[in-house]
Amino acid sequence: MACGEPNSLDFYTGSVVEAEDLLFRDAFIDHLWETLESMHVLLKAPRRCGKTSVMEHLRRFPRNNFAVIYENVQDLSHPADLFLAILDKFRDAHPKVFDYLVDGWKSVRSWLPKAEGLEVGEFKLKFREHEADYREQWRQHGDMLFARLRTLDRPVLIIVDEFPDMLLNLRKDDPKLLRDFLSWFRTQRSNPAPKHDNVRWLLGGSINLSTTLDGLGLLDRINDLDDEPLPDLTTGQVEEFVALMLASRGVTFERKLPARLRELLGRPIPLFLQMLTLDLFRSWRSKPRKLKPADVDAEFARFITSTAAQDKLQHFYTRLAKYYSEPALGQAHALLNHLCTTGPDGSSRSVLNQIFDSTWPPDKQPVVHERKRLFQQLLRDLENDFYVLETSEGRYDFASGIIKAWWRKYYA
Ligand SMILES: Nc1ncnc2c1ncn2[C@@H]1O[C@H](COP(=O)(O)OP(=O)(O)OP(=O)(O)O)[C@@H](O)[C@H]1O
Ligand SMILES: [Mg+2]
Repeated sequence: MACGEPNSLDFYTGSVVEAEDLLFRDAFIDHLWETLESMHVLLKAPRRCGKTSVMEHLRRFPRNNFAVIYENVQDLSHPADLFLAILDKFRDAHPKVFDYLVDGWKSVRSWLPKAEGLEVGEFKLKFREHEADYREQWRQHGDMLFARLRTLDRPVLIIVDEFPDMLLNLRKDDPKLLRDFLSWFRTQRSNPAPKHDNVRWLLGGSINLSTTLDGLGLLDRINDLDDEPLPDLTTGQVEEFVALMLASRGVTFERKLPARLRELLGRPIPLFLQMLTLDLFRSWRSKPRKLKPADVDAEFARFITSTAAQDKLQHFYTRLAKYYSEPALGQAHALLNHLCTTGPDGSSRSVLNQIFDSTWPPDKQPVVHERKRLFQQLLRDLENDFYVLETSEGRYDFASGIIKAWWRKYYA
């Protein structure tokens, strides 16, 4: 959703930021392209921080002659479907590459028309129709796809968004298949070593893949990937964004206003930065005046209860239930319910530990050292999943000021 004025950047309140409008990511994008010269990449960040926007930039402005495709695999639950989705994307974005890939694939070429003879989405349908056992044959299809990609005379970058979700779907449907696929995929990525390969993978997602795989004893299946956390926006960038978006629309404001907005945000989740700045702009438009820091406080309070925010924030609550199982889920709620009531310096580790210990029913309480381990693991998961942040040695708080205020309002 954009709200533009001549000579000003659009606001984005949820959609992928168009490559031309993407701010603050140039250095990171340079770094990604450099890294991709010799490695496969795992791009991680909390929800709503701008992963897909960075991926979109890589796709839109490829470098070094890369043919880039992007695929969101959130709803896929089988490796064979991943391969089909990849081929289908090549058909859409690089029909010549698609035809080349299929030309050497004897069994498929015999019934498949050239890219130009296929309607959008028709490839997957035809494939499933002609290769009834395509799922059982996933290895052969995967091997063939890699083999064909490797004979191309140009590099290809395959961006797979929400990869951890696909793995969780797999785990749910068929844990053995998850293991087999991860092992197969790792072998394919490492032979040959990326430096000698023209195929690159950039896998991205917003949930904590490492903890999930660690729990299954499968962490070594992704340890060849170069871990790249998407950098948080800096203090300066957050304030620059507020100032730029307001000033370019003719809004006047007190010098201290951008800093106040930054303080209220806490960890700067870019989506919330956009929404709050847009709300400020709208408030000014309905009543033009010189905006003050107190106006930010008023908008912040309004924002927490707005329906626009509900949609976006509810997600942070429900996803806990999706990725945490009992008793960790109830324990996570107990810690967050406490943290949301604390002041600006959060709570201490020992208080959190006491709360955690009090959640066990007396007859189910594990022994002390096991309890300690589980507490540490939960705290680490909540940190990795971007709910909490160790703000200073031994002190913890909600990472995002917005989520904290919202949690307090609805769940405390
Ligand atoms: N560089 C940026 N500057 C300002 N705002 C940004 C930036 N990148 C992203 N945003 C904001 O974040 C929102 C979400 O962006 P994007 O979809 O790329 O994030 P994501 O991490 O992929 O989200 P999700 O976890 O939901 O997939 C955008 O609509 C925009 O409001
Ligand atoms: Mg995304």
